[in-house]
This record gives sequence, structure tokens and C-alpha cells, in this order.
Amino acid sequence: MRKKLIAGNWKMNLDFNEAMTLIAELCEAVDGNLDQKDVLIFPPALYTRHAHEFLRNASSGIQLGVQDVAATTDGAFTGEVSASMAKVAGADYALVGHSERRSYFHEDGAVLLEKTKRSLEHGLNVVFCCGEVLEDRKSGQHFDVVERQLHEVLSGLNNSEWDQITIAYEPVWAIGTGETATPEQAQEMHAFIRNWVKEQQGDARAAVVRILYGGSMKPDNAAALLQQPDVDGGLIGGASLKADQFTAIISA
Ligand code: PGA
Repeated sequence: MRKKLIAGNWKMNLDFNEAMTLIAELCEAVDGNLDQKDVLIFPPALYTRHAHEFLRNASSGIQLGVQDVAATTDGAFTGEVSASMAKVAGADYALVGHSERRSYFHEDGAVLLEKTKRSLEHGLNVVFCCGEVLEDRKSGQHFDVVERQLHEVLSGLNNSEWDQITIAYEPVWAIGTGETATPEQAQEMHAFIRNWVKEQQGDARAAVVRILYGGSMKPDNAAALLQQPDVDGGLIGGASLKADQFTAIISA
């Protein structure tokens, strides 16, 4: 059985005090009780060290990630944060391939592959995001687009590297729009992705890899999405910024 994972992507939101307050509220709400679901948060990278110390002192079991890492190991790359820096600051996970990185920062498959490799090399688990834009879905290209995104980054990984991979399907037309994929649309794509993993890595890997859904997941639609057999959790943006909403999704 795959344990569900509920992940919150805070994006570039919350000042430091708000962020630490939200972390404290989540620790209190979860209260070490993570038997049913794993919980992971992606605060802004500058808060990683403080967030890590707080989560550790609270013995919360909540895991921590960064929203991005550099494609390179070190060197003259002004402004970048490397995977090893994120790891040392206390991150367990890196988010790679989010649609906002793909569109606003022009990150293509080649760059995302390097970011994935740097993360794996430095002991970070990767939540790799894929998903089609609305035009792709309207023209029936959504399976091809997702398959290409998966292929570009994940097809060359070896079996032990796959231990560190979680996939997030995030239809771009559902991110921050209030529009959600129906549970049937999510299940259809998740089954497609799992089948792709099976073709690449075999039955055993396909049976354990977690595939999250992201795109306007809220307390009122979470249960229906999470009940789908191939939906192993959520990657939540807007609703992860409010403790009561995120907690409601964790309990859904
Ligand atoms: P949303 O964001 O829940 O606000 O749609 C999801 C995401 O971008 O990961």
C-alpha cells in the first residue's frame, strides 16, 4: 500500500513571522500523528534552516523541501542555491519541473534533468512535476505532452535513484485557477503515468512510486481526488497557506 503524501507548495508567499506561525499551527494540528499520511511543506528557501529546526524540535514528523535548486553543483552562478546547500539547511525534498518554473523561468527538460541529478546526488528526494496546458488537453495531446516531460527527465534514472522520486501531475489549467481536474480525469492520467513507470522500471517500481495530484486541490474536493486508486496524495498551493485548509486536506 502506498502511504498518501500531502505536500504544500507555499511559492513566494508569507513573511517570516507568518511562515513560522503557520509551521507552528501545522505542528500542533498534526501533533506527531502521521500514521495515515505523510506531510511535506515547501516554504521559501530562505526559511529552510529555521523551519527545519522548528520541525525537528517539535518532533512533528512533517518533512521539508525547497521549491527549486540549481542545475549546477557550485561556482559562479549569482543568486542560485545548490542542492547541497538546501540539504545542509535541512531540506529532505526538492520540487523540480513546476509549471511556473517551466513557463516564467524557461526551464526545459535538459535543465530539469540536471536539477534532478543534482538533487539526487546530494540526497534530496525529488517531487517531479508534469502536466499539460489547456490547449494540449483541448487538442487531445495531454498524454503525449506528459509522456514527453516524463521521458526527458526520468527515463535515464537507475533503480536506486527511483527510490528518491515522487511524481506530481499538475494540469497547468488547474493551477491557481479554482478549476480542478475531475477525479476521473486525474485518475485517467495517473494510471497512464503509472503505466509509463511500469514500462520503464517494471511492476515493482510502478507499485510503489507515489503520484500526487496538484491543481486547485481544496478541502471540499480533496477526498474525491484522494479516493482514486492511482492518486497517492496532493501538491497544494493556495490551500496550503492556511492551517485550517491544509489540515482539512490532510484529514480528507
Ligand atoms: P494551487 O497550486 O493548489 O494553488 O492550484 C498548486 C501548485 O502550484 O502546486
